[in-house]
Amino acid sequence: MNGVPRHVAIIMDGNGRWAISRGQPRLAGHRAGAKTLEDVLGWCREAGVEILTVYAFSTENWKRPAEEVNGLMKLLGLFLRNKRAKLIRDKVRFRVIGRRSDLPEKLQKKIAALEAETATFPHQLVVALSYGGRAEIVDAARRFAALPPERQTEAGFASCLYAPDLPDPDLIIRTSGEFRLSNFLLWECAYSEFFITETLWPDFDHATFGRALASYAARDRRKGGHA
Ligand code: IPE
Ligand code: IPE
Ligand code: MG
Repeated sequence: MNGVPRHVAIIMDGNGRWAISRGQPRLAGHRAGAKTLEDVLGWCREAGVEILTVYAFSTENWKRPAEEVNGLMKLLGLFLRNKRAKLIRDKVRFRVIGRRSDLPEKLQKKIAALEAETATFPHQLVVALSYGGRAEIVDAARRFAALPPERQTEAGFASCLYAPDLPDPDLIIRTSGEFRLSNFLLWECAYSEFFITETLWPDFDHATFGRALASYAARDRRKGGHA
């Protein structure tokens, strides 16, 4: 039996389908999804999950219509503004992984400010923004090439990733029933456990979160060794 996963990563998928099934614009789904994220942060605290990483916007998501992309960027800005006080009160360190220079400059500034303000806190919310696992590996490879030969090891490569101090995710949850990674944490997922639920992200609830943790607890994590 495993205990509580230290690091949970979530592919927050299904906002669009949730909205469309209600005859609403896709952005309404993204708004509902932002609310779910707030709830999940609280459940992580309760359960003792120390690090929550969420996939909010991929390097591929830039190809969506400008209206949706702009709406998402606005929503992210609002999330930072509205959640700032709560993150500080709950001692949650906020950080972003991804190609942050792709983001609107105003958003980059807000991110940097909140990261600095929360840098010493023990719990962590890591938001993957303009994030792609392949982009992260390419960005890391550039830094890796500059390392001295004796540091050109797996650990040395991991030290070149966006958030090198983070442990790999123990559990990766994907909502909306899709069995794929969609370019999320490709290096870090080597020995992660997966939990896939049909639930669309805005409908993701405490019971489903509990099922994911229970499923994780029952996994036999051999990591190539013997039990
Ligand atoms: C996830 O929901 C949020 C982002 C990728 C930004 P989607 O917008 O992908 O929703 P579906 O998968 O189309 O239902
Ligand atoms: C993955 O969802 C990215 C995020 C949740 C941010 P997508 O909706 O972009 O992935 P695909 O298109 O289903 O693979
Ligand atoms: Mg999707």
